[in-house]
Amino acid sequence: MNDITKQDDNKANSFRLVVIICSIITSIFAITMFSFLLYFVIAKKTYIGLLIAVSVVCLVICSVFLTQTIKSFQIKKLGVTQLKKVEKLAIVFGILLIIIFPVGGYSLFAFGGEVNIQKTYFWNDGPWLTYGENPTTDMSISWLTRFARKTSIQFGTSPENMETITSPSAKTHLHHILLTGLQPNTIYYYSLGIKTSTFPTNAVFSFKTAPDVNEAFKVIIVGDMQPGPGKLLHAGDLVAKGIVAENPDFVIQLGDLAIDGGFPIFWHYTAQNFPQYAATAPFQIAVGNHDYGGAGLGAHNFRNAFPHPYESDSGLYYSFDYASAHFIMIDNFDAGGYTMTDVQKIWVEQDIIDAQTRGQDWIFINFHHTMFTTGTSSQNIAVQSWLAPLAEKYNVDGVFFGHDHHYEHWNYTYGSMGLLYSEFDTPSGNNTQYWCTGGGGAKLEVDYGVLKHDVWTDTRTFYNVTAGTYQDIEFYRSPWNASRVVNSPEHQIYAASVSDGLYYHAPNLESYSTDNELYGYMYGEQTRHYMKIEMNADGTLCTISAHYPNGDLITGPFGNYPQIWTFSK
Ligand SMILES: [Fe+2]
Repeated sequence: MNDITKQDDNKANSFRLVVIICSIITSIFAITMFSFLLYFVIAKKTYIGLLIAVSVVCLVICSVFLTQTIKSFQIKKLGVTQLKKVEKLAIVFGILLIIIFPVGGYSLFAFGGEVNIQKTYFWNDGPWLTYGENPTTDMSISWLTRFARKTSIQFGTSPENMETITSPSAKTHLHHILLTGLQPNTIYYYSLGIKTSTFPTNAVFSFKTAPDVNEAFKVIIVGDMQPGPGKLLHAGDLVAKGIVAENPDFVIQLGDLAIDGGFPIFWHYTAQNFPQYAATAPFQIAVGNHDYGGAGLGAHNFRNAFPHPYESDSGLYYSFDYASAHFIMIDNFDAGGYTMTDVQKIWVEQDIIDAQTRGQDWIFINFHHTMFTTGTSSQNIAVQSWLAPLAEKYNVDGVFFGHDHHYEHWNYTYGSMGLLYSEFDTPSGNNTQYWCTGGGGAKLEVDYGVLKHDVWTDTRTFYNVTAGTYQDIEFYRSPWNASRVVNSPEHQIYAASVSDGLYYHAPNLESYSTDNELYGYMYGEQTRHYMKIEMNADGTLCTISAHYPNGDLITGPFGNYPQIWTFSK
């Protein structure tokens, strides 16, 4: 009974072979994981705990199977019991391998540590456009490749008449071709000649340089995409498709494109999103805290991926003209944490003065962090107390930021209630429009608990003009009222990551934050969305509006709060 047949012997040898192969694969995998672990421990990077856990599991399995391999070699002829043992081991190993490889692989790519995406990347992604120093004549085309290679594109004034342009740069995963000396207000064509996660190999793209005279134009503003797997990828995709349908002249993004800018996997997720429109519409970005990344390489990757004409080697801030308007992109992190350097603040003020001196009638300021909010983040008082007086002084037309993942609007006339940040401010009554537009696809504030957080209190010091003295004023912020839901089933899909409602927040119903009146709070809604600036041909009329991803205007409950305004000069 215990003798085995020749057939059993062959079976035993097959299983021995399986175990040997699996052992070798697992050993290689475990050694790789340990190499990464060693690197990250030395470099003091994050996610070490997860990496240790995956590595230990790999090593344990590796040692078990190596032991069994050695044992099976020591027995020339296997008995039935031993044969079944090897069989079972092979099956268990197969199942474990199926689980461990995706988890381990994901860990390596996503959590394995922050890397320079010029040197380490695993997909073909892009392309995307950014304006060069002068939007009327300069355009940069960027993309990422799975394998490091030299950079070349097909480029020309028509799809039938394109020539190869090759960059002299060394092999890299992150590519840029900067085109200069182009004609203003002119359409050009280009092709990468490779398949990316968004486009086929033979895709030909077009773009238009900025005009050098006043022209009608359309800008889309979007914030906080942070696409991840599953629903977050889908939510951002809805917004991206809405932007594609708008066919804008360019797009402003307010930061937090990526979940963490230090990691290739998160760039890959976001690079499946924005190139849908950024391949044809220049993508002008203000950096977000998530783009900076935990250990600093995120900022490095951001600067490398988006070659904007930054004003500083340390701060990611810049500005540009388009027709009658001037756009300023602030980096509100360049002094560390959520703070700005004085160097940048001085630059912003001088930049506004210079733009107005050049005759740029409209000034729009863009950055990431919450200057005002009724969401779950803190208000950035440092930015608020610097920028609100500045915007009032220079009659800035619009200020856009994200960070909190929802839609909100304020119409703030600084000093109108007799409260100033400084006794030396002398406001003249200009009002400025402020929008939090962080609904580009990330989890919404309702997912972070905007309906049920504790009441927050915050003491701020203002100079009371009437009393002629500084006063400490205590403000509080309550959760949003869960009964305030817009009854709009067709727009429900743009609400929370999980099934939820389009909660709204309006000041004339009840105040959830005692500073809402001071800051001129107008309306807020928990929805994915984008915003739009449309300028007329002679630069005298500007319409600003907020939209659901299908293009519908956000109008609030019963159409009472249509989010569209027209300004004239
Ligand atoms: Fe953020």
